[in-house]
Amino acid sequence: MKKSALLTAIATAAIFLFLNSCGNSSADNSNTPAQSMVTDEPKDDGQGVGKFKDVTLAAFDAKLAEQGKTIFEAKCSACHRTTDQKIVGPGLAGVTKKRSPAWILNMITNPVEMTQKDPAAKALLEEHLTQMTFQDVSDSDAKALLEYLRQVDGEGPAQASN
Ligand code: HEC
Repeated sequence: MKKSALLTAIATAAIFLFLNSCGNSSADNSNTPAQSMVTDEPKDDGQGVGKFKDVTLAAFDAKLAEQGKTIFEAKCSACHRTTDQKIVGPGLAGVTKKRSPAWILNMITNPVEMTQKDPAAKALLEEHLTQMTFQDVSDSDAKALLEYLRQVDGEGPAQASN
């Protein structure tokens, strides 16, 4: 009798500890986008890790870029400038020249996995020592942001729109 009561107590304590340790990690999980991912072996094709692959750019769309600018100011400007000035994250001037469209879209929509698996994103995390987190950006918002970054890099005749 006594022995089984003791066992019950131990089992209860173990379950409690288990539940408790799960609870502690939930804060991190909230930043991870739940989405289907390309889990190929990490070989660097310059496209990053995530749902975007082989993205070809259409002609520059000034209206879409304008939407992107609004989203950028709301969700990105706390950590990024569109110059080469680093604040929390890297300055984004020139980013569309050095990264592929798919890479940029994957970085915006899947930053945590990117910094774990993509060599370039990993190196950025090592340099900046702050994890970029998912900013609850839809795929179409991500495309608008990319269009804005194209504009920052001098694409489109509509530079004078501001
Ligand atoms: C909490 C700060 C933070 C926010 C908010 C943030 N980022 Fe980042 N971003 C970073 C950091 C830091 C890095 C470097 C990688 C890392 O350390 O996670 C980065 C990297 C990037 C890169 C890669 C830059 C390069 O040189 O290749 C792009 C593109 C980017 N962010 C775009 C965005 C966009 C667009 C948004 C808004 C939706 C955004 N970020 C929101 C902090 C942030």
